[in-house]
Amino acid sequence: MTKTEIYAQTAREIEAVLEGETNVVARMATVSCLLHQAFDDYFWTGFYVVDPEKSEELVVGPYQGTLGCLRIPFSRGVCGAAARTGEVQIVQDVHAFPGHIACDARSQSEIVVPVYAPDGKLFAVFDVDSTEVGSFDAADAEGLKTILDKVII
Ligand code: SME
Repeated sequence: MTKTEIYAQTAREIEAVLEGETNVVARMATVSCLLHQAFDDYFWTGFYVVDPEKSEELVVGPYQGTLGCLRIPFSRGVCGAAARTGEVQIVQDVHAFPGHIACDARSQSEIVVPVYAPDGKLFAVFDVDSTEVGSFDAADAEGLKTILDKVII
């Protein structure tokens, strides 16, 4: 299967599992789990949520993988860049990204997708790390955006 086909199949699985479930934590946990299982090169897969108590700070949410950093200010790292700009960040080699936060030294490439609430406000970012250099491209951005657009209801 191509990446695009895997994303389409995973999107259908996620939709089926989440049917009727309105709890946001349960929805985020399900998305993290099913995406993590769908791709062999996904090494860390999960959400950093905008902290309602602190402006411009992300706090770790549901994820799969090794221990993640708990908090990331908007000013730092790839996740911070996604939160600040509202744009998908694709980093082919994390060692070449100024300010990259290394939660686990095995991480080599990364994609971070902003996640919006239905009111249009930034709710979280979704971060995927890979142990291979150059794992992510426009097909990942597209596949992830389609899934993440429906997660916060
Ligand atoms: N590498 C990310 C931090 C989060 S973790 O990798 C789980 C960053 O630079 O924002």
